[in-house]
Amino acid sequence: MDDQMIFRPSTSRDALAMHSLARDSQVLSVNSTYYYALMARHFQATCMVAESEGRVCGYVIGYCPPDQPDTLFVWQVGVAKPCQGKGLGKKLLIALIKARNPDFLEATIAPDNQPSINLFRSVARHFNVGCIFSETSYFSQEDLGTDEKAEHLMKIGPF
Ligand SMILES: CC(C)(COP(=O)(O)OP(=O)(O)OC[C@H]1O[C@@H](n2cnc3c(N)ncnc32)[C@H](O)[C@@H]1OP(=O)(O)O)[C@@H](O)C(=O)NCCC(=O)NCCS
Repeated sequence: MDDQMIFRPSTSRDALAMHSLARDSQVLSVNSTYYYALMARHFQATCMVAESEGRVCGYVIGYCPPDQPDTLFVWQVGVAKPCQGKGLGKKLLIALIKARNPDFLEATIAPDNQPSINLFRSVARHFNVGCIFSETSYFSQEDLGTDEKAEHLMKIGPF
């Protein structure tokens, strides 16, 4: 991977790049550019981008749920296709965990999204902490609509 890659908190100026990466992934839910700008600014402390030569190559968007201030909930991780499989997604999550220092990290994942499951398990191994992927849904199809897949909770920690 590019040695010049820098990891930094997001700003609203990253919204268009985040939106493009989500769209190009063909996997992630694509939200409005306004949404990405809002997340990047209001949740700057729990969002991070990877940048090389001025181009955003990956991002992670997270927040601490109001009733779980010790938990970093990761909503989206996206890595540009040419950069995938080179450790960037893992480095982004590790950088964010080290910057924010949560007790736990959570995310929801569709059970057939093996790249994402492997990514979070790999992060848990890096920190040598537990990793539980629930067998029951956190958000069901009844919640999300029949076009969407059920999402199950992944919980990592305590760090
Ligand atoms: C999922 C995603 C963020 C992973 O980022 P990445 O930089 O490609 O992943 P990394 O190279 O850091 O790999 C981390 C771990 O995941 C595994 N992994 C990555 N891509 C994989 C794939 N396509 N299939 C199986 N395992 C995969 C790696 O083997 C590695 O595990 P290891 O440390 O045990 O070898 C990236 O592929 C992506 O943006 N996908 C589309 C969007 C998405 O699905 N986001 C996640 C849902 S929020």
